[in-house]
Amino acid sequence: MDTPQHYLERVPLFSELSDKELTELANCLEEQKYKKDTVVVYETEEGSTLFIIKKGNVKISRMSDKGKEVILAILTEGDFFGEMSLLDGLARSANVTTTCETDLYLLRREDFLSLIGSNPSIAIGLLKELALRIRKSDTQIKSLSLYDASGRVASALIQLAEERGTIREGIVKIKNMPSQKDLANIAGTSRETTSRVIKSFIADGIISKANGNFLIHNYESFRQKYG
Ligand code: CMP
Repeated sequence: MDTPQHYLERVPLFSELSDKELTELANCLEEQKYKKDTVVVYETEEGSTLFIIKKGNVKISRMSDKGKEVILAILTEGDFFGEMSLLDGLARSANVTTTCETDLYLLRREDFLSLIGSNPSIAIGLLKELALRIRKSDTQIKSLSLYDASGRVASALIQLAEERGTIREGIVKIKNMPSQKDLANIAGTSRETTSRVIKSFIADGIISKANGNFLIHNYESFRQKYG
């Protein structure tokens, strides 16, 4: 059954909550549906809501003054966003935009803060997720500052593989690949360069495309080289 409570049971952040607590939380949620390419959160606006992704994907990005976008992360079903400004009281730290039709659960600031206050397991889950996001950002900073174009695109592919890939016999399959423009904005290169690098990886047998999915052959050695 597709009730908020049944969905919340499967969200890692809420895995320690009792049935009663899940019901209470579910009663505080509001569901909203968004079309593809809708900006849900604007960088610098005031934050009053936490969002949990019920279905779909969002990209977290920042823009330069010249309108160039860098994508910090792509989040998917079961992930949450909007916690930073609720915790520190500052403005939103980034833009959040849907990359396909997306359904979100919204939780008001007061309800979120009281949930953390009364459930240490949620506070710990939140800290673990924040630590993981810093680790990913550290990897992205390393890639942007130390790698050439091939290394940056490879590093972006590894980021996606770790977030949503499945591994079988050493081969990682990445489903629902972002557009080549978004991949370029994760890698910090132009779309043309990204396309050139992908073509050369395919020609060298390092990756392949099948039914819209990306396959990274011999993932372990790819990760050791570019991760
Ligand atoms: P907030 O600052 O309230 O609004 C933007 C949200 O984007 C932020 O909370 C986080 O939830 C999310 N966010 C910002 N930076 C990152 C990042 N590097 N990785 C993943 N999510 C992020």
